[in-house]
Amino acid sequence: MLQQINDLSAKLKSHQAQIRPAIDRVLGRGWLVLGPEVEQFEKSFAAYLGANHCVGVANGTDAIELALKAVGIASNDRVATVANAGMYTTIAIVTIGAEPFFLDVDYETHVMTLSEVVRAVEAGVKAVVATHLYGLAIAEIASIAQYCAKKNIPLIEDCAQAHGAQIDGKFVGTFGSISCFSFYPTKNLGALGDGGAVVTNYPLLDERLRRLRQYGWITKYHVQIAGARNSRLDEIQAAVLLDLLPHLDEANDRRREIADRYSRQILCPNLTVPIVRGKENVAHLYVICALKREDLREHLRKHNIASDVHYPIPDHRQFLFGSRFAQIHLPNTERLAGEILTLPCYPQMSNEAVDRVIAAINGWQR
Ligand SMILES: Cc1ncc(COP(=O)(O)O)c(C=O)c1O
Repeated sequence: MLQQINDLSAKLKSHQAQIRPAIDRVLGRGWLVLGPEVEQFEKSFAAYLGANHCVGVANGTDAIELALKAVGIASNDRVATVANAGMYTTIAIVTIGAEPFFLDVDYETHVMTLSEVVRAVEAGVKAVVATHLYGLAIAEIASIAQYCAKKNIPLIEDCAQAHGAQIDGKFVGTFGSISCFSFYPTKNLGALGDGGAVVTNYPLLDERLRRLRQYGWITKYHVQIAGARNSRLDEIQAAVLLDLLPHLDEANDRRREIADRYSRQILCPNLTVPIVRGKENVAHLYVICALKREDLREHLRKHNIASDVHYPIPDHRQFLFGSRFAQIHLPNTERLAGEILTLPCYPQMSNEAVDRVIAAINGWQR
């Protein structure tokens, strides 16, 4: 049987006791969009993170776009982002008419560094988006936040892959001015469809976000601000998220266990495995590096093991841009795009299944 990189049916089965009653609650009430479940989820998720405000929106990309608008980013402003995080932030930036300023990442951790943020701020960016990629909290996030605050540059954390990751007991999503989450079904905290949230400690940003997500209304049918649209979280997604939230830490522990098992037992000279730290890593994706990646993928395929590449094309090399960023070179980002490989990793994966992947990799004749 094919070993998938994720198994949503296993997840749905293991959480039936939470999912069914949540849906029934919403159906029984008949309130389907931005109602009591959304309100309760917003409160609970903010409390879980130790933040003051959470605003539910339709998906994680909208969360980034609305966060950028909330901090005042407008067309032609430059916004710093990494180029190895699947284009989501870049799409949000260009949708506003702003300009991405691409940062290179650290080769070992795949995330942004303070020195790259300093380079961007000195070049005049108006905001920085920091992505905690693959579930790993950016090691320098506290110093990046401190530096951005000193320079009066809003820092937006993209936590779409890092729900529950912490550094020294502080959750990612609480370091910057504002942070964004996706609840796409495969995420560490995932809904039954699309969903997202923006989190902040600032009441003014909270208020703006609530208007930005619903036509700019100050009250029903009274439009106050420009740049708004419809990006709402629905009640079924919120109810399911509310009932899955208490299980997030346990699911993250299991992901970490799997990642740790891989990293300790994959013994292959031509591969680099990630270092799985403590609660800094919630192992959203388990990503190794292989010089002969396609060869390894083919070997895994023969063993009925799926793999994937997150992500194959750096943002500045996407077809959309043609030659617009041809002069930009990000050596680590470009090198990593040719080497990264995602292995199966999800909380319901058994140790036997993990060991089968490990045995297949260790048996690879490179
Ligand atoms: C790092 C990152 N940022 C943003 C997003 C966008 O989230 P969504 O798919 O909910 O729009 C995703 C998820 O797909 C992601 O992985």
